[in-house]
Amino acid sequence: MKINFSSLSLPRTGPLVVSALSGGKLLATAERVDMATGGALTRAMNASRFKGESGQSLTVMAPSGVRASRVILIGLGEAERVNDLAAQTFGGRAWKAVAGTGDKSAMIAVDPIKGSKLKTWEISANAAFGALLGSYRFDKYRTREKADAKPSVTALTIASRNSADAKKAYGPKAKVADGVFMTRDLVSEPANVIYPVTLAQQARSLSKLGVKISVLDEKQMAKLNMGALLGVAQGSANKPRLVVMQWNGAPKARNKRPIAFVGKGVTFDTGGISIKPAGGMEDMKWDMGGSGVVIGLMKALAGRKAKVNAVGVVGLVENMPSSTAQRPGDVVETMSGQTVEVINTDAEGRLVLADAMWYCQERYKPHTLIDLATLTGAIIVSLGNENAGMFANDDDICEKLTAAGKLVGEPVWRMPLGDAYDKLINSDIADMKNIGGRWGGSITAAQFLQRFIKDDVKWAHLDIAGVTWSNKDAPTVPKGGTAFGVRLLDRLVAEHYES
Ligand code: BES
Ligand code: MN
Ligand code: ZN
Repeated sequence: MKINFSSLSLPRTGPLVVSALSGGKLLATAERVDMATGGALTRAMNASRFKGESGQSLTVMAPSGVRASRVILIGLGEAERVNDLAAQTFGGRAWKAVAGTGDKSAMIAVDPIKGSKLKTWEISANAAFGALLGSYRFDKYRTREKADAKPSVTALTIASRNSADAKKAYGPKAKVADGVFMTRDLVSEPANVIYPVTLAQQARSLSKLGVKISVLDEKQMAKLNMGALLGVAQGSANKPRLVVMQWNGAPKARNKRPIAFVGKGVTFDTGGISIKPAGGMEDMKWDMGGSGVVIGLMKALAGRKAKVNAVGVVGLVENMPSSTAQRPGDVVETMSGQTVEVINTDAEGRLVLADAMWYCQERYKPHTLIDLATLTGAIIVSLGNENAGMFANDDDICEKLTAAGKLVGEPVWRMPLGDAYDKLINSDIADMKNIGGRWGGSITAAQFLQRFIKDDVKWAHLDIAGVTWSNKDAPTVPKGGTAFGVRLLDRLVAEHYES
């Protein structure tokens, strides 16, 4: 879908989206359409429950007096509450309303909103971003889908004053959307297509954007003593990889320590010998969600040429049961030298991350490390599908992540860490075991990870098991892979780590 920006004039064809505020107050273009149509919008409002609230909309088909094929009136709610996110939601809803109309082009009119903190061009840029995010589809394997089941609109015009400013502000947002789309694609792909070697190839494609890529194979990881990651991988015919993506966008003079992002990339999680039940196991194709976010995030940062030194590390393995698989009770030695008794082979993500995070810290000396992982079912029990779980050794990074999450609509909720939880993963025969008891499963998982974080590194762990995949459509997040984390961390970087 192609997005254009233009100045305001009523379209000669296709659907037109206009808007209203709470109380049914029509914005300028809606007002203009209402006049031109002899009050068609006012009559439609009076004939319905539409009051301009956010979430409300109404459609007037082919009204005489204008040339648009239909006019869609969308509610924006209270003017004071129209922020970036609300404008994106508006764009997403507008896209939904026009996409399948049968027309090839459509127009969204964006008018000044008195009482909003946003300038008109900011509303336009965000509406465009929201429409783009909402237009995502993963349809490459649907070979028999009828044309009229697909979106008809291929060009969307965002019409407002100062359209040149809107277009300029949209530029970097479109790059973030590129990252989001890549993540959604990777998460949606089945595990016979995306496995460690092919996921590493996908990451390699970022070199076009100036990202420096290095890929470690099994031998190199063995040399580095990554026994935990390799222990998970050993049951699969698909060989593991560890990919490093470096984006050095900070001004050269300041050769600063980077911020690091580390992702769990279990391309399929059967549970291994501690095998999972059959029902729902197909979901475990998205157990590489953390790595998908790190790859998409690096694409976004490089795409918009962020002035930051960032390093992304992803540990890629497939967790399979086989005659070569690791057994419950096996003891492995991690790159850090610490040993782990593997009580449950289904608690594999933390094993992969232990070596990936240690390697990242040893090699790249980040000041801050944020890891992302679809780590525990327990975090879904705690927080459902709305918030990611956040664990950290630093209050400041939590505040920054919480604030960024609110701004982009990817909220995180802090969970506790502490010595009493840490004790629960002590082992009788090794330095630790890979699971705690029955309770507090996401906390004991995070305690495990913390044992692989160096003292001088600010660290946050995002357990994204509940938010990586969505079963319901939302205006800017169609059901399926959400790419939760890409916008959050892009915003975190933009607000705090760019020079
Ligand atoms: N990948 C799963 C966690 C998961 C569950 C992600 C559901 C998304 C949806 C992880 O590797 C896992 O199996 N965790 C176990 C840990 C347990 C064995 C301590 C779990 O949560 O049951
Ligand atoms: Mn598992
Ligand atoms: Zn897993």
